[in-house]
Amino acid sequence: MGSLVTLQAPASLADVPYQPGKLSVRKASMRDTNAILGLINAYAAKGIMLPRTEFEMSENIRDFSVVFSGERLVGCGALHFYSPSTAEIRSLAVDHNWKEHGVGRILMDALEQEAREHGLQSIFAFTYVDRFFNKMGYQLVDRGDLPLKAWKDCLRCPKFQACDEIAVLKLL
Ligand SMILES: CC(C)(COP(=O)(O)OP(=O)(O)OC[C@H]1O[C@@H](n2cnc3c(N)ncnc32)[C@H](O)[C@@H]1OP(=O)(O)O)[C@@H](O)C(=O)NCCC(=O)NCCS
Repeated sequence: MGSLVTLQAPASLADVPYQPGKLSVRKASMRDTNAILGLINAYAAKGIMLPRTEFEMSENIRDFSVVFSGERLVGCGALHFYSPSTAEIRSLAVDHNWKEHGVGRILMDALEQEAREHGLQSIFAFTYVDRFFNKMGYQLVDRGDLPLKAWKDCLRCPKFQACDEIAVLKLL
């Protein structure tokens, strides 16, 4: 059985320098799990994101979209539904060597398109990178305006008592 929390990237996710090339985006499949966990948990180990487990990934893999540069998974992000009208962007992560090369924007466009196809009226996120979200058309909002259910992740966050994440929302 796999470990419940994987805080280190699997050995297969070696630190590969950025290589220019065509980027492609698609919905994730179960076989992407290890690479996604490697991305997310590398940031989690630095306290930037919440860690994810194999179990959570398996449960939520259908929320995820992934970006590839050739055969290499270089970005992931999830659209998690909360109501018939709104969803949260979660677990957005780009390989640190591929940052600032448009991967984040490709992911956000794909997740937004997915939200539109489902007839949603808004998407929100809790984030430290509000300036990135501003560029994607999101506005700062009061966290109290967001669905209470969205706070369930906060309960196991080490920063629960001193949260410094910013709530952002985009109307579609
Ligand atoms: C935030 C993150 C997803 C952005 O991905 P990225 O691939 O580097 O973003 P892009 O290259 O698509 O950038 C799109 C635009 O946002 C800007 N941008 C990217 N990161 C930014 C940041 N941290 N602050 C301000 N602007 C930023 C880019 O300059 C670019 O602007 P332009 O269109 O004017 O050129 C990535 O830096 C990351 O994985 N960060 C660590 C994990 C994290 O914080 N995730 C968010 C959890 S909610």
